[in-house]
Amino acid sequence: EKGGWSSFMAKEVSEEPEAVANTIRGRVHEGRVVIPELDGLDDLFADISRIVILGAGTAAYAGLVGKYAIEQWARIPVEVELAHEFRYRDPLVGPDTLVISISQSGETMDTLMAVKEAARLGARTLSICNTQGATIPRESDAIVYTHAGPEVAVASTKAFVAQITALYLFALHVARVRGTMGADDQAAQIEELSALPDKIRWVLDNEQERIEQLAHWMADTRSVLFLGRHVGYPIALEGALKLKELSYIHAEGFAAGELKHGPIALIEPGQPVFVVVPSPRGAQVLHSKVVSNIEEIRARGARVIAIAEAGDAAVLPSADEVLRIPLAAPLFEPILAVVPLHVFAMGLAEAKGLDVDQPRNLAKSVTVE
Ligand code: M6R
Repeated sequence: EKGGWSSFMAKEVSEEPEAVANTIRGRVHEGRVVIPELDGLDDLFADISRIVILGAGTAAYAGLVGKYAIEQWARIPVEVELAHEFRYRDPLVGPDTLVISISQSGETMDTLMAVKEAARLGARTLSICNTQGATIPRESDAIVYTHAGPEVAVASTKAFVAQITALYLFALHVARVRGTMGADDQAAQIEELSALPDKIRWVLDNEQERIEQLAHWMADTRSVLFLGRHVGYPIALEGALKLKELSYIHAEGFAAGELKHGPIALIEPGQPVFVVVPSPRGAQVLHSKVVSNIEEIRARGARVIAIAEAGDAAVLPSADEVLRIPLAAPLFEPILAVVPLHVFAMGLAEAKGLDVDQPRNLAKSVTVE
């Protein structure tokens, strides 16, 4: 089943381009996003006043990315919460709330219980799920499947990029229904989305070997930090989670703006820090602030590995390594920037001789609360 791959995870990372392409397929018609599964729900999308996204682990990080696109395109306020936190705090949701759950397996007990609680409180529920007929979609009012194909490795990779893709399609679908987005803008975003599979493939073809080499050199590292801002922040969290679960190395993800509020105290000579750099073609202020963060930590001896778009020269003077991603509109960068982090976590675990498909203490699907 692994084909010629050394692990399921290696196979599944290589399938990230198809996971995105297959999730888009059949959902774009004449320059507009139309998700057939959401047919008949136009009234619901017109009526809701807020969205709450629930998930656990990597699925929750996909939700954090999705919030930016839904708010920007569909103009609906979005909160993202860990399902297990939501469930036990008497949450304020009701008929005006759409609760979107995200789950690869569709069987995560924490997420299932949170969805049931939301439904009990009168919220409408939508499941974004990768497994046909699983429990969470069966318990939900509506379903948008991700089409990443079966994910076997415990670490979620191709499902993550497919989840963000599904959330973006959802945002575009709802923006069309609510009339919050012009046709040209909708067409431009669809073009960006459709270009992602080739761009992910570019990252794998051009950077994978170098990242694996880097991981090999870093096999004795005891701690790695990840920084990101805006949509790059959840990617920093995802990079840290993948490294923890696969290589058992201490790893933390931070919002870059938090650095001076505490985490910069962790920086000492030789400390490796991955920094997800926003495009200089997006909000210029975000780019220059993250470049300043790189300079600040470099001045304190950090070893900086920047993930930056091709041609961004501002990172060159202070970064020790620059991993390149192709140009994309800012909201689409997370789907590209996460790929080097998946490859890095896998490469480091392999360099340590660990089982990347079945890390210690973890289960693919967590069916207990
Ligand atoms: O099946 P789910 O998407 O509901 O799983 C949620 C988390 O348990 C899962 O993403 C976990 O964090 C992964 N092992 C991360 O790689």
